[in-house]
Amino acid sequence: MSAIPPPISMLAELTHRCPLACPYCSNPLELLKSDGELPTEVWAGIFRQAADLGVLQLHLSGGEPAARRDLADLVGAAREAGLYVNLITSGIGLTEARLDALEARGLDHVQLSLQGVSDAVADRIGGYAGGFDRKMAVAHSIARRGLPLTVNAVMHRHNLDQLPQAIALAAELGARRIEVACVQFYGWALKNRTALQPSRAQVAAAKVTVEAARDTYKGRMQIDFVPPDYYADYPKACMGGWGSTGLNIAPDGTVLPCHAAQTIPGLSFPKVTDLPLADIWYRSDAFMAFRGTDYLPDICQGCARRDRDFGGCRCQAMALAGDARAADPVCRHSPHRGLVDRLLAEADDRPLETTDFTYRR
Ligand code: SF4
Ligand code: FES
Repeated sequence: MSAIPPPISMLAELTHRCPLACPYCSNPLELLKSDGELPTEVWAGIFRQAADLGVLQLHLSGGEPAARRDLADLVGAAREAGLYVNLITSGIGLTEARLDALEARGLDHVQLSLQGVSDAVADRIGGYAGGFDRKMAVAHSIARRGLPLTVNAVMHRHNLDQLPQAIALAAELGARRIEVACVQFYGWALKNRTALQPSRAQVAAAKVTVEAARDTYKGRMQIDFVPPDYYADYPKACMGGWGSTGLNIAPDGTVLPCHAAQTIPGLSFPKVTDLPLADIWYRSDAFMAFRGTDYLPDICQGCARRDRDFGGCRCQAMALAGDARAADPVCRHSPHRGLVDRLLAEADDRPLETTDFTYRR
């Protein structure tokens, strides 16, 4: 294996607390309680370690990061460490006073999630009455302040048909970028796969919509499209390759190569409160487990895409094939691709609105 590069980005999951209850939540089934969360000064030390390690971009996430009363202090600490700070939020809990404080402490960018384009749809999906109106107020405030905004439109079976309106809404809100992020099936979202998985026709229509919108909004708003993995012929290079570009820190300081890594049995994940971040990144068993391509099966070893996709997503291979060392079953060459094709066919056959969501509560 060649020399290990330093990480470029870090996702800090400040808390698992969240006022919303989105059925597509990628957080684990068992959420950490607030008394297990790291205090401000510990996070500040982690940010300094991350910057020393080479991290450039910090994504503050959750749960809902605004559930942390010390959010502005955390932003300030990250900026002092020299990191570019992006806040990933539903907007709930961001009052004008809190936005003033975040701006004053140097917040660089906001990524605002969008559950739907109307209060009826968005509040049902988010499981939070009044959430859509509050989100719109926050979005307008962000625009007034001139803070760079990305709208993260989370799309699935129940809202993909409203994609043109979601893109138009993002433009109206002054977003510089919209990420059309189709739900992937990890964490709680896997429990809701039947309810959330779109039909192939919906995904095909979404691709056409995105292409047309790229022309319409050219020069005004960047449109990124993350299709659902199952609908591709080949897998994505998840996280750019295991342990190659980024790391995640859970609310209790557990350091993970990706947000779903704890679904892989047999790996133990160190805490940044026990070991320096650099040791974890460069030497821990969990980060070394799937670095490179040596562990991949023969079908990948002989494949021209091996060094491009690294055999796909380890957590998806675990979830679908029961083997984290297998080729991602999304791959056309995988012996497990039949599982994915069956899921696609079943989603096509289900009437659109037949299945209810399972919320966390
Ligand atoms: Fe990727 Fe392996 Fe499939 Fe080739 S065979 S495309 S390397 S998952
Ligand atoms: Fe864990 Fe893809 S989500 S490797």
